[in-house]
Amino acid sequence: MHFIRSATALLAASGLALAVPLPKAKRINTANDLQTLQFLHMMEEFEATYYLEGLSQFSSADFAAAGWAIPDLVLSDLLNFAQDQTSHIQFWSSAIEALGAEPISTCAFHFAPVLTDPATWLQFGREMEYIGMSAYMSAMAMLDDPELLLDAANIMTVEARHQTLYNVFNGGSSVPQDYDVALTPPQLLAMVGQFLTGCEIFPMNLPMVPQITHLFAAAPAGAPLNWTWGNATSQTVDPNAFWCQWTSGASTEAVVQPITACATPAINGYVFAWITNSSTPLSTDILTQNVNSVVAGPAIAFVDSQMEILSELAVHASANITDVSMVTPAQAASILGGSTV
Ligand SMILES: *[C@@H]1O[C@H](CO)[C@@H](O)[C@H](O)[C@H]1NC(C)=O
Ligand SMILES: *[C@@H]1O[C@H](CO)[C@@H](O)[C@H](O)[C@H]1NC(C)=O
Ligand SMILES: *[C@@H]1O[C@H](CO)[C@@H](O)[C@H](O)[C@H]1NC(C)=O
Ligand SMILES: *[C@@H]1O[C@H](CO)[C@@H](O)[C@H](O)[C@H]1NC(C)=O
Repeated sequence: MHFIRSATALLAASGLALAVPLPKAKRINTANDLQTLQFLHMMEEFEATYYLEGLSQFSSADFAAAGWAIPDLVLSDLLNFAQDQTSHIQFWSSAIEALGAEPISTCAFHFAPVLTDPATWLQFGREMEYIGMSAYMSAMAMLDDPELLLDAANIMTVEARHQTLYNVFNGGSSVPQDYDVALTPPQLLAMVGQFLTGCEIFPMNLPMVPQITHLFAAAPAGAPLNWTWGNATSQTVDPNAFWCQWTSGASTEAVVQPITACATPAINGYVFAWITNSSTPLSTDILTQNVNSVVAGPAIAFVDSQMEILSELAVHASANITDVSMVTPAQAASILGGSTV
């Protein structure tokens, strides 16, 4: 369904108000900036539609039945996030109009595959908010106008807060890694393209790893994964010609594995999976990334290898609380000095 009609109806139904966008300063009008804003605007529509459809489908009772001890703890924040996204749509619409253009209105969003149950919907939201955040991170490398850069930064931090709480609501670590990684628009579209139609104006030129087979359940660390891309599968391709690679904030280079032994690396938090036809590790730096070997991907997954008291409380309303070892003054001095304790 198309966003505008449904969003208007659902916003009216849910009592959400659209925030008034701030007046715009005069922009440096570059075609590059306009294209980036169109992409950000589309991603915000994508996210807002996810919220409006899910929030109108699932009730507090559905979340309780699915195992969340205090459903309104989750749902009250999600309502706020929905409002943020609709405000961002208005913001970028105004910015695009200030550049003398119209927002792209041809995209339609199809969330049926993730609206099957609350857990699937919530897990997808966790992934989607990372993808949304990553769209802003790549915009940082694409925008020319400093005013637009500042606007994007002001929104990116809000997307990151959403993603943090999704980690908590899904039982993971709130801030699992020291760094996040940006992905390019084609890479982001490789993940969300299966939910879009009428959006071909954007670069949809990377073959997708079908997300649906593995994306929605948090992958347990070390679990072997079978991949399908195009007509190929991990089991049928030449095992010496393809590799499975994993990028994350834990390293500037991917973890590389033989295609037949593809298992989530020992990591906590988000990972991106890729299929390549070279064993050279992919860099996580989108400005210099060696993308020529990418055959399919990325796909996003979360590995929850560390429990967190906050997340246990958010999901179960109780937690196994053991004493946290505090840092002694001597250890603190040593850490700040850069040496190991
Ligand atoms: C992957 O495929 C192999 C070989 O067909 C099979 O033994 C294994 O169970 C599969 N793994 C998963 C996670 O489905
Ligand atoms: C898959 O195989 C079919 C039939 O051989 C072919 O028409 C199609 O182009 C192939 N798709 C890909 C992505 O290779
Ligand atoms: C590796 O994959 C890329 C992307 O599909 C392709 O352009 C390239 O020709 C492939 N290289 C080899 C050696 O197969
Ligand atoms: C609570 O945590 C401690 C320390 O990690 C562990 O030994 C114990 O088995 C846990 N208890 C439960 C009920 O999970």
